[in-house]
Amino acid sequence: MSKGRGGTADKGLAAAGMDEGSRLKALVPPLLAWYEEHGRPLPWREDPQPYRVWISEIMLQQTRIEAVKPYYDRFIRELPDVAALAAVEDDRLMKLWEGLGYYNRARNLKKAAVVVEREYGGRLPGEYGELVKLPGIGNYTAGAIASISYGQAVPAVDGNVLRVVSRVLASREDIRKQSTKKRVEALLAEAMPERDAGSFNQGLMEVGETLCIPNGHPLCGGCPFHPLCLASLRGQTDQIPVKAPPPKRRVEERTVCVLERDGYIGLRKREDKGLLASLYELPNAEGHLAPEELAETFHLNREAIFSLERLPDAKHIFSHVEWHMAGYRVRLARAMPEGYIAARKEDLKTIYPLPNAFGRYIKLIN
Ligand code: ADE
Repeated sequence: MSKGRGGTADKGLAAAGMDEGSRLKALVPPLLAWYEEHGRPLPWREDPQPYRVWISEIMLQQTRIEAVKPYYDRFIRELPDVAALAAVEDDRLMKLWEGLGYYNRARNLKKAAVVVEREYGGRLPGEYGELVKLPGIGNYTAGAIASISYGQAVPAVDGNVLRVVSRVLASREDIRKQSTKKRVEALLAEAMPERDAGSFNQGLMEVGETLCIPNGHPLCGGCPFHPLCLASLRGQTDQIPVKAPPPKRRVEERTVCVLERDGYIGLRKREDKGLLASLYELPNAEGHLAPEELAETFHLNREAIFSLERLPDAKHIFSHVEWHMAGYRVRLARAMPEGYIAARKEDLKTIYPLPNAFGRYIKLIN
């Protein structure tokens, strides 16, 4: 960080009476120029139809851009429009979403598609106020669709944008707080340009993703905001944004059972409510069970157990819970007992949506 230059710019801007609104307004020209030159050629940008922007933005809420691309391509190939999404079978939808986690987001996509088919003739509405009424579409997604696809001057504030704006303004408000997000939305709604709203929003996100990165060292040297960013000028990018620690996750011990019989694996379908609702699962139970407890817990006839092998432990982190798993492979000498779906091993990849939580054990099935 150049102290001399930074100090002068800081004083200069302060002397010019730069309030928060003016500072954010001053970001517009350098941001648009930077985005024009550095914006990445992402698949949904080539053809920013509302449906495509919607799908990509929901996927991007949980996963990095590079990881989303193959999911996005496959999803759009199979469900190219709202009508196809509204009609897709739930299991198929879950399979297309498998690995992305937060399966309720996919369920809400379908629910919203049904509403859009029924009430808007299959085309997502262009009004922010209409978009936010749809299932699973919050302020951020509505802002992204309205600005990127319809050119409406509304902000789209995600974690990246919160970080960038907090640093530019050297704001120490906790970015986990809803009130902080509301304030940033209000400031950006005032400051953003009437034209190029989509580029403005995407440029802000992209500065956050590629330059103004969390932790470590932001790449202030290449940042279009460098002379305007107060946290950078004051050497405070390591303290800002302020983010309260996340709530503590509950730890649950579980035992997972790979039940095998002649090329078939025993699966169960989860209830249609709660964690991982309606997905398929490897049989699992609470607690770390001893080998002699497996038969009773998983309703297996002791004489039907051909062999029993301990598998490595595994851990999976959900947003509010951590599963610490002990695993067993149980080879059966007889047919799969009642209550289990006998799935052919080769169908696990293509038919049954199986959450990542079981990934370590699924990999051990060959
Ligand atoms: N992150 C989430 N959505 C994005 C978008 N449209 N452009 C850049 N980064 C994003």
